Amino acid sequence: MSACRHFFLEIYFYFLYGTLQRSFGANILIISITNQKGGVGKTTTAVNLSAALALMGKNTLLVDTDPQAHSTVSYIKNYENVKKSIYDVMINPDNNVEDIIMRSSVPGLDVAVSKISMAKLEQSLIGEIDGHYRLKDILMPVRKKYNFIIIDTPPALGLITLNCLVAATHILIPIQSSYLSLEGTDDLLETVDKVRKIANPQLKILGVLITLHDKRTNISRDVVNRITEVFGRSVFNTMISKSVKLEESPAYKESIFTYAPFSVGAIQYKELAMEVIKRAQN
Ligand SMILES: Nc1ncnc2c1ncn2[C@@H]1O[C@H](COP(=O)(O)OP(=O)(O)OP(=O)(O)O)[C@@H](O)[C@H]1O
Ligand SMILES: [Mg+2]
Repeated sequence: MSACRHFFLEIYFYFLYGTLQRSFGANILIISITNQKGGVGKTTTAVNLSAALALMGKNTLLVDTDPQAHSTVSYIKNYENVKKSIYDVMINPDNNVEDIIMRSSVPGLDVAVSKISMAKLEQSLIGEIDGHYRLKDILMPVRKKYNFIIIDTPPALGLITLNCLVAATHILIPIQSSYLSLEGTDDLLETVDKVRKIANPQLKILGVLITLHDKRTNISRDVVNRITEVFGRSVFNTMISKSVKLEESPAYKESIFTYAPFSVGAIQYKELAMEVIKRAQN
C-alpha cells in the first residue's frame, strides 16, 4: 500500500474511532463535586474546572443541583428570566432536559440551570421509588453530546446529593485546608459506600482537592499533611490557593480564565483540569 493511502486510512480510522466514542458516550466522565460541608469551594471548582475542560476542547456540561444556584448565577446573565430549572425536569420527566440547558459565555460549555425551587425536591419526590435515579435518567439523552459532565452539589447528604452520586461515574471531594476540615468526611465516605452497594457499583473517587489553601500558615501545612495521610494518592497534586480573583470572578459572570487569565487561580484550575483528564484516562 502506498504511504499516501496508508496515511489517509489512518486519518479515517482516527475520526471513525472518535465519532464512535462520542456517539456512544463511551468515555464520558460524570464528576460530582461533593462535600456536605458548606463553603469548601465546590461551586468555585465546578465553575472553573468545567470552564478549563471546555477551553481544552472537551464538550462540557455543568449541572447545577444546588438550590442556591450559585453555579447558574456565575454564568447565566438574565437569571431572573429563567423559568424552568432542573427541579422541573427531575419531578416531571416529561419535561425535556434540553429546555433547561443554556449556553455559557465559554465556548464548549453548557449549563443545566438550577433555581431555589430545587429546595422542594425532597418533599416532591416522597414516595417515588425511583426518587434517587431521577438525575441519572434525565442526563441519559444528553450524555452523548459531552465529554465531561460536572455536577455542583449542595452542602448536604440528602436526596439531591444522592441523585448526584447515583448519576456520577466519579466523585471529586474538595476539602478546605483549615482546622476541622476533615470533620464529616467519614459520613461522606460512608454515603459513597452505600451508593455503591445500592445503586452505582462503578462510582469511583476521582480525587481529593485541597482548596482555599494558604501556604504561609502553619495550620494550612498541617492540614495538608493530615489530608494526605488519610487519602494518600487520591489527593490531587494541584492545590487551589486562597485568591481574591477567584472570589471576585462570579460577580462578573466570568470564569477565572477570562476574568484574570494570568492569576494563580487560573493556572491552578488549568493544572487541575489536566490532572482530571489524565486520571480519566486511567
Ligand atoms: N480559592 C479561593 N480563594 C478565595 N475565595 C474562594 C476560593 N474558593 C472559594 N472561595 C470563596 O469562598 C466562598 C465559598 O466558596 P464556594 O461557594 O465555592 O463553596 P461551596 O462549597 O460551593 O459552598 P456551598 O457549600 O455553600 O455551596 C465563596 O465566597 C467563594 O467565592
Ligand atoms: Mg456551592
